[in-house]
Amino acid sequence: MRVLITGGCGFIGSNFIRYYNNKHPYHKIYNIDKLTYAGNLENLRGLEKRKNYHFIKGDISDALTMKKIFRQFRPDAVINFAAESHVDRSIESPALFLKTNFIGVSILLNLSLECRIKKFLQISTDEIYGSILHGSFRESSPLTPSNPYSASKAAADGLVMAYYKTYTLPALITRSSNNYGPYQFPEKLIPLTIINALHNRAIPVYGDGKHIRDWLYVEDNCEAIDTVFQRGAIGEIYNIAGENELTNIYVVKKILQHLDKNESLVTFVKDRPGHDRRYALSISKIRRHCGWHPKTPFSTGIKKTVAWYLKNKRWLKNCQTGAYRSFYKKYYSKRGLKNI
Ligand SMILES: NC(=O)c1ccc[n+]([C@@H]2O[C@H](COP(=O)([O-])OP(=O)(O)OC[C@H]3O[C@@H](n4cnc5c(N)ncnc54)[C@H](O)[C@@H]3O)[C@@H](O)[C@H]2O)c1
Repeated sequence: MRVLITGGCGFIGSNFIRYYNNKHPYHKIYNIDKLTYAGNLENLRGLEKRKNYHFIKGDISDALTMKKIFRQFRPDAVINFAAESHVDRSIESPALFLKTNFIGVSILLNLSLECRIKKFLQISTDEIYGSILHGSFRESSPLTPSNPYSASKAAADGLVMAYYKTYTLPALITRSSNNYGPYQFPEKLIPLTIINALHNRAIPVYGDGKHIRDWLYVEDNCEAIDTVFQRGAIGEIYNIAGENELTNIYVVKKILQHLDKNESLVTFVKDRPGHDRRYALSISKIRRHCGWHPKTPFSTGIKKTVAWYLKNKRWLKNCQTGAYRSFYKKYYSKRGLKNI
């Protein structure tokens, strides 16, 4: 099996490639990544020596380059992780989100059709359903995205399903809740909290901090994605979640406890526009159809995550590139925080 994986140098993609390579050592992996600020070759250090793994720098929204890649490597299957993934950045500049998350997906779908791909798996998100105060979303729930990131992902899901229905492209989708774990770029809540706490810097928390997310340990997501890839039915969508619903402020305080830091570092900042209050998914479909369930309680996952960042301070330091620092300086200075 020749699997083309896009966005494999990012957080979930790199964890997935490691997982997939261990599980299916005889499959060939072609990792296509643009290496944006979020893509880091260091995340896959060691794999480059393996004969079954190939990295190709490429942009999924560049049709000509992608055509060459498909023609040269003739993949049997495609798993698309590549995306602009940070909501705050999508609010500042939505155009790139549409280019990668929608146009990029349309290019992958066209080429997959042309090259008669046997399976196309789109990696999507719970954010496309929007906020829900009570109960949980099923795969058939309407999509009501609240920000440019989730809107671009929702549009992509629509296109993937349209290619399945119109052209019988063998496609399927996973929609997962918030992931956490090793190799996450320190702009997202958990690694940002860890890095700021380590430097005794203010930890920005939006609004009252009571927004609820369902935290999924990244290895559990990798297992779920592989399960859907192997056993999921074509044309179906599968929700994936960790069944760990927690407020942001709870998560931040837990990390501070693990690092033995003072809660006075917590700094509430003006809420993000269009900030969804609560995300919640029903995962009964993946349980029933694929036999998957989450394995890692938050208490275990967060302990492992904090330990990983403590052990990999060099990785964290390398992430503090110009792009990361200048973005956050600008972003938070606007909100009255100067020490980031
Ligand atoms: N992180 C989460 O909690 C979460 C939850 C649900 C779904 N998702 C989805 O999972 C996928 C991966 O998320 P992540 O958190 O690992 O993101 P990430 O930002 O860490 O990584 C994205 C990767 O895609 C690459 N990329 C960006 N634009 C590209 C382009 N035009 N062409 C090729 N590569 C490009 C980047 O270089 C990076 O390596 C995304 O599709 C995201 O929407 C993420």
